[in-house]
Amino acid sequence: EGGGHDNRPHRLSWSFAGPFGMYDPAQLQRGFKVFKEVCAACHSANYLYFRNLTQEGGPRFTEAQAKQVAGEYQITDGPNDSGDMFQRPGRLSDHWPAPFPNDNAARAANGGALPPDFSVLAKARSYHVGFPGFITDAFIQYQEHGVDYIHALLTGYADAPADVHLQPGLQYNKYFPGNQIAMPKPISDGQVEYTDGAPQTVDQYASDVSAFMMWMAEPHLDSRKRIGFQVMIFLIVLSGLLYFTKKKIWSKVD
Ligand code: HEM
Repeated sequence: EGGGHDNRPHRLSWSFAGPFGMYDPAQLQRGFKVFKEVCAACHSANYLYFRNLTQEGGPRFTEAQAKQVAGEYQITDGPNDSGDMFQRPGRLSDHWPAPFPNDNAARAANGGALPPDFSVLAKARSYHVGFPGFITDAFIQYQEHGVDYIHALLTGYADAPADVHLQPGLQYNKYFPGNQIAMPKPISDGQVEYTDGAPQTVDQYASDVSAFMMWMAEPHLDSRKRIGFQVMIFLIVLSGLLYFTKKKIWSKVD
């Protein structure tokens, strides 16, 4: 049936994996570009603020760049003194504007399916890796689970095998549970222009936008790991001091 069970996402190597892994700001900037130019047409990111784009441990755009991006969007504000809502250009303090006014409008534009909000999507769910959910939940949790899946999903569109009957409006995808997804293949080779020489391939776009989504879901990963490392060093030094103090204090006792 082309079922999902032999289509587990491959584990990829991510810059932010492992105890010392950190985000690659250049990759996050590329991923943001893919998100902005492609995914944001359908997916919201309600917990992303324009100012987040400048933060340490993130894509680290300059403030001027983030302001410029914000200014490209019209934000509904108000009410003003006469009680009316009005439109104004976005500011750093605004959150990312949603593509649809509400879930019903989003569903209506997507054949009844709701494009999920991106804010915590990379971490929010226990994505199927081909095992029953309870096994996945209990034993196969690793931090890059969601990004491996999202990369696989974006690169997993294919012609449906002859024995699969696609429902109207659905696409075949090797990695989507059940293999029939309402999201049309969102991205193709060459679609987003990169200025840093990175390959303009679906594979690269998928990695970059997944990394960006990981950052949205885990914006403090870098600082958490850095502090964790400092704590370890501190504890090692402290242990040494305590050991020698103990030896000194007890040196005359035998
Ligand atoms: C679902 C990612 C672009 C419409 C999803 C899911 C992810 C995702 C991770 C959840 C899949 C799951 O539930 O397992 C992306 C990325 C995009 C992108 C990274 C940009 C590269 C788009 C676009 C559209 C769209 C442009 C609209 C034309 C949808 C819909 C669903 C969905 C309708 C729900 C699918 C279903 O439940 O069958 N997307 N998406 N997406 N996306 Fe996208």
